[in-house]
Amino acid sequence: MSGAYFLTTAIDYVNSAPHLGHAYEKVLADFFARHQQSLGSDVLFLTGVDEHGQKVQQSAQKEGIEPQLFCDEMSARFQRLHESLGVKASHFVRTTDAHHKTIVREWLQRLHDKGEIFFQEYEGYYSIRQEQFVTEKDKVDGQWPEIFGEVIQTKEPNYYFRLEPYRQRLLKHLEENPEFVVPTFRRKELLGALTEPLADLCISRPKSRLSWGIPLPFNEDYVTYVWFDALVNYYSFASIKGTLYWPPDLQIIGKDILIPAHGVYWPIMLFALDQALPKHLLVHGFWTNSGAKISKSDAKSLVDPVPYVEKFGPDVLRYFVLREMVLGQDADFSDERFDTRYTGDLGKKLGNLVQRTLSMIGRYRDGKIPSYDGFHITPADTALRSDAVVEEYRRAVDEFAPHLALQAIWNLVARANEYVEETAPFKLAKDPTQAKRLDAVLGHLAETIRRLSVLIEAALPFTAKKIRAQLQLPLGPVKLEEALFGNSLHGHVIGKPEVLFPPFEEKPQAGT
Ligand code: ME8
Ligand code: MG
Repeated sequence: MSGAYFLTTAIDYVNSAPHLGHAYEKVLADFFARHQQSLGSDVLFLTGVDEHGQKVQQSAQKEGIEPQLFCDEMSARFQRLHESLGVKASHFVRTTDAHHKTIVREWLQRLHDKGEIFFQEYEGYYSIRQEQFVTEKDKVDGQWPEIFGEVIQTKEPNYYFRLEPYRQRLLKHLEENPEFVVPTFRRKELLGALTEPLADLCISRPKSRLSWGIPLPFNEDYVTYVWFDALVNYYSFASIKGTLYWPPDLQIIGKDILIPAHGVYWPIMLFALDQALPKHLLVHGFWTNSGAKISKSDAKSLVDPVPYVEKFGPDVLRYFVLREMVLGQDADFSDERFDTRYTGDLGKKLGNLVQRTLSMIGRYRDGKIPSYDGFHITPADTALRSDAVVEEYRRAVDEFAPHLALQAIWNLVARANEYVEETAPFKLAKDPTQAKRLDAVLGHLAETIRRLSVLIEAALPFTAKKIRAQLQLPLGPVKLEEALFGNSLHGHVIGKPEVLFPPFEEKPQAGT
């Protein structure tokens, strides 16, 4: 055991269906979770949904159903998506969970007792669409930006949480822990946001205006509002496995919720409650569709992941998002790119390598993997057997670069395909004096496929198992160290090869 590893994702609003951006974040977290498992860590992986708030209340009203029923239905939809993608969290978080509500109220009470939360009359501008008070400073060229929708003047007493007393401490924390926010350019943005004094954070809404929330323990006429409910989820469920896993090692979020939610409110809440801060906030970019941000409020840009999973299978979507996006940057989705990855990387490269290797072992050696240790070690053999790929893979994952980790694996796939061309087993098979050489070639290839099935486990868990099933090896769980080149397959009998990524008759047209 290399100890505990605790990671989380943002919890998604349930006011509309999950899209590609949501799917990406959860796949990304699942990738890191599986990687940690393969290193022997005791992993706690939390993901789930954010269920309270005005928009959910309104969406339920529109459908003429109770908010709880609306949330139950939407949550099930998110959960089904996770299942279909092989996203295997330790627990699926729901903020309507009774236990979570208790923890939120406990935290609020403690902060209220400490004097960090206070009551105050406030008069100001209020954005109905964003459900937040806004100030003149939010105007762009003297106008309220489009994202605020209608802005009204309103007067309302509310509860506030003081942020400013902790600003210097947060700056110090960022200086002492340069890896607190990854990637670096996001850390710089956060530092920039902390140069000015921080306004108090409004944390309540009167029940008369918003009923779908968690009542404040010290005034039941109010409910908590957005972040004081949502952020606490990370702690509420940190004991789900019996003992408390704290602090989180990795918290994965999108770029829109770093400043101020996770970069300012969250660490300051933890400071105020004497809780340790997470080790890393990993901030990913956005998926776009022909350049437009994929968002629930833009039906045209929306990419529904479900048809892609149904048509291509979960691993294809997983591979696509992990391979295409440079973590931290934005990436563009298109059917053409998806198709290219499918037919190229997966079909022609990985799929073909597995299939041709297994069928040659079937054809030339009756499905029995020959002895291959010590025979005819050529420079090509040595290159194929090199363990550098495992180190390269591991380093890329440690540096939060899944796309490079996958690139390292696919370099091995390419090398193995070249090896087949160079050694030409189909020619060797025709020459009886080359029998030992053919044994070695087939043996090295079989071993390469076995180690590939270990290397792809975190990114493509379904395919990894399919390959091991075809090799008639135990399905797992696997440890990353098993990806080192070995000599364990002598005489092992394999199963029937099956096509992993079959070509489609016509061009894929999964519904965008
Ligand atoms: O913000 N590409 O929920 P949410 C990539 N409930 N990621 C995207 C994306 C895109 N096009 N669009 C959204 C919330 N996301 C809150 C979080 S956490 C305590 C509460 C990401 O449903 C977004 O950046 O609006 C966020 O990390 C996640 O999806 C949920 O977004
Ligand atoms: Mg959002």
